[in-house]
Amino acid sequence: MVNTTSKVRRIGVLTSGGDAPGMNPVVRSVVRTCLHLGIECVGIRRGFAGLLAGDIRPLDYDASSGLIRRGGTKLYTARCEEFKTEAGQKKGADTCKFLGLDGIVGIGGDGTFRGLQALSHQGISVVGVPGTIDNDIACSTYTVGFDTACNTAIEAIDRLQDTMQSHERCSVVEVMGRHAGYLALNVAVACGALAVLVPEKEVNFEEDILEPIRRSRLVGRTHFMIIVAEGAGSAYDVAKRIHEALSVDTRVTVLGHVQRGGSPSAQDRLVGTHLGYRAVQLLAEGKTNRVVCCNGEEYVDYDIEEALSMHKTIDESTYTMIQQITGTDALSRMMGLRV
Ligand code: F6P
Repeated sequence: MVNTTSKVRRIGVLTSGGDAPGMNPVVRSVVRTCLHLGIECVGIRRGFAGLLAGDIRPLDYDASSGLIRRGGTKLYTARCEEFKTEAGQKKGADTCKFLGLDGIVGIGGDGTFRGLQALSHQGISVVGVPGTIDNDIACSTYTVGFDTACNTAIEAIDRLQDTMQSHERCSVVEVMGRHAGYLALNVAVACGALAVLVPEKEVNFEEDILEPIRRSRLVGRTHFMIIVAEGAGSAYDVAKRIHEALSVDTRVTVLGHVQRGGSPSAQDRLVGTHLGYRAVQLLAEGKTNRVVCCNGEEYVDYDIEEALSMHKTIDESTYTMIQQITGTDALSRMMGLRV
């Protein structure tokens, strides 16, 4: 379909903040939707830093080929201090005007949305797409990259379980998530971990970590898996405390940035494609200052101000469930103890 009614002639797309598997499928979808609507698409490299530097490349069918299966972001990404200043934001808006960009699609987390909001205050049309392995965007039940990151962590932990079982050790695995425990919690459930530490929850070390290990040992287990979110404390400290209290042989694995890499999963390709498609449609319809997001199976959009004012907490039902079926409660019942 050729764009006959929309005033939008050219849009820019950028990725910003920590990369996430699935950002490339979003970019591809943005490019292909633009082609479908007769809109020119340009890639802004290195996020808002690239916008300030005018670092752009035209994106056509060929340039977006193969992106559906590529991890990372072809557009590169950055965190930009200058763009946090009003002068930087004005310069960014001036670049958009100079380049004739009728809208910007920005893929990233809260920081990216704040940058887009600032551009919008300078009169530029913007739409945000949630892309972060942390799944910590309040307005969206899902963020692109989360599923792939979970699968990467699970695959690594399954391998660890083999060697921990052979040596009868306690494994303490640190996963990403400086401010959010979604990744840690889901990974812990999917790996059958004994306990999980997330930044959103205080733990009682004795009750929530040591006692499950003790009880697990009492019912015959000889290897133990503890998951720690990066923002919940150091995995090395956790392992040291476990060793000091129980004399169990412990090993620490920090999965780190390996979780941000790799070919996007089916879910991240699919969701990323839907969100990129919706983002361009919104701009073509003359909408601005929006974030496209997931509401379960549905794709919806919110005003950026509203999106940024929302707060996401840890999924209480999952947190309760892991304690009931894996941790102290479950083990107490197995031992016929009161919980
Ligand atoms: O926001 C995604 C994330 O991977 C967090 O989980 C992590 O704390 C942070 O980025 C790490 O960022 P950097 O790339 O600066 O090491």
